[in-house]
Amino acid sequence: MEVITKSNYQEMSLLAAKYLLDTVKGKSDAVIGLPTGSTPLGMYSAVVEEYRKNTISFQNVKTFNLDEYIGLIKTDENSYYNFMNTNLFSHIDIKKENIHIPDGMTGDVKKECTNYENKVRQAGSMDILFLGIGKNGHIGFNEPGDFFEPYTHEVQLKQNTINANSRFFENIHDVPTTAITMGIKTILSAKKIVLLAEGESKAEAVAEMVNGKITPRLPASILQLHDNITVIIDKKAAGNL
Ligand code: F6R
Repeated sequence: MEVITKSNYQEMSLLAAKYLLDTVKGKSDAVIGLPTGSTPLGMYSAVVEEYRKNTISFQNVKTFNLDEYIGLIKTDENSYYNFMNTNLFSHIDIKKENIHIPDGMTGDVKKECTNYENKVRQAGSMDILFLGIGKNGHIGFNEPGDFFEPYTHEVQLKQNTINANSRFFENIHDVPTTAITMGIKTILSAKKIVLLAEGESKAEAVAEMVNGKITPRLPASILQLHDNITVIIDKKAAGNL
């Protein structure tokens, strides 16, 4: 596991954006896995800034998001569909049909999970997948538990995840309690993984991920098994290393 510590969030974000941009510059039809949340916002804005300089096109790029809440309509301000549109997709020339996000409003969650898993596979391996990490060590919405779920599946969010994500909602009771997420095997199938973490609140999870035992109690620890992973963190997130 390669760990790169940057002095601040801005530097972290610029480096993460460079990984994304270099992937697309090297392969115009790259397949890219993407996270939502606070951490990748700086990366997305750096990517948009570069796109505005007319140096890059996303016309042939395919994207797959890691996860989506169940029960929020696409236009809900807290849906991950809306997040991606607002922070990235509406600013670049990616084709709508090349954007993939699990459908959280499906009437058949099991079927949607199978379909999503198949779509990831049919696109070929993701060339690069960006991840954040939860304070509880989750990746995507693979929450701590007794075992690793390999494929895209429905998940019951842990109370600490609901608490953490309630900052985006008016009322904690509005936070969905279930989501669809890529599974661990789906995540590990990416050719390259870049995990981002910022701030003191992530320091414990980062240290466990890098130096702890591999355990479903801290899902990110499984990333130790991936051969090509770069962890980009700021000084505060590196505090326990
Ligand atoms: C979101 C996702 C989550 C987040 C994690 C950290 O798509 O996959 O694993 O990356 O919850 O979220 P932030 O960046 O908001 O701290």
